[in-house]
Amino acid sequence: MSAELSPIDTAKSIAAKYAVQFVEDGMRVGLGTGSTSAWMVRYLGERVQQEGLNIVGVPTSRRTAVLAQEAGLRIATLDEAKWLDITIDGTDEYDAELTLIKGGGGALLHEKIVASASDRMIVIADHSKSVAHLGAFPLPIEVIPFGLQTTRAMVEAMLDGMDVLGWEAVLRTIDDQPFVTDQGNHIIDLHLKRIGDPRHLALALNQVPGVVENGLFIDICDMVISGHGDGRIEVT
Ligand code: 5RP
Repeated sequence: MSAELSPIDTAKSIAAKYAVQFVEDGMRVGLGTGSTSAWMVRYLGERVQQEGLNIVGVPTSRRTAVLAQEAGLRIATLDEAKWLDITIDGTDEYDAELTLIKGGGGALLHEKIVASASDRMIVIADHSKSVAHLGAFPLPIEVIPFGLQTTRAMVEAMLDGMDVLGWEAVLRTIDDQPFVTDQGNHIIDLHLKRIGDPRHLALALNQVPGVVENGLFIDICDMVISGHGDGRIEVT
């Protein structure tokens, strides 16, 4: 299969294929969002068809719910499943401490809730997501629609005193309209260039009224499986 794929898709697909081996019969599995997670959902569907695994998946987005059903996976809400054995999800950046920036696909709120309600979170990625310092990828925050521009201004003012190299807060749009999350909120992408203290920043962001959640995943991820375009896998 990988002969037909670009190096980046090869990297994503092999990481996803490796990760689904951690899923065992009877498990409740959090299903991430994004192109790498889409591979994971397909491979999990193959295992269910071929091995008759009895698993239930909890999707982190409407997009993933559709993919999971197409792949033949049984799905449930988080409240139906209550607690999960494992969550497998992608990332936009990860560092040596397995701190993540997530939310490039706009699903960070559900992703963080689902991963936090799991015994184990495995992240799958192409190796380009590995960074020495977080922050080159804009950090997404989910904000409620009410007072959106005021919230944005308060976030920018707060960033001014943080250990970051930039503090531009840009409302995410699609076709000139604000992007709307599955929860009916919006996303502001924070162009910070480099995040000196992710823990301090995450706490400060969630103190701003109107901010629902931020895309920093700290002490949540247990393992990163990263793929290379030449077929190599690294496990951190
Ligand atoms: C969605 C996410 C994704 O996991 C992240 O954006 C990575 O996406 P991809 O696998 O397409 O590179 O956080 O909210």
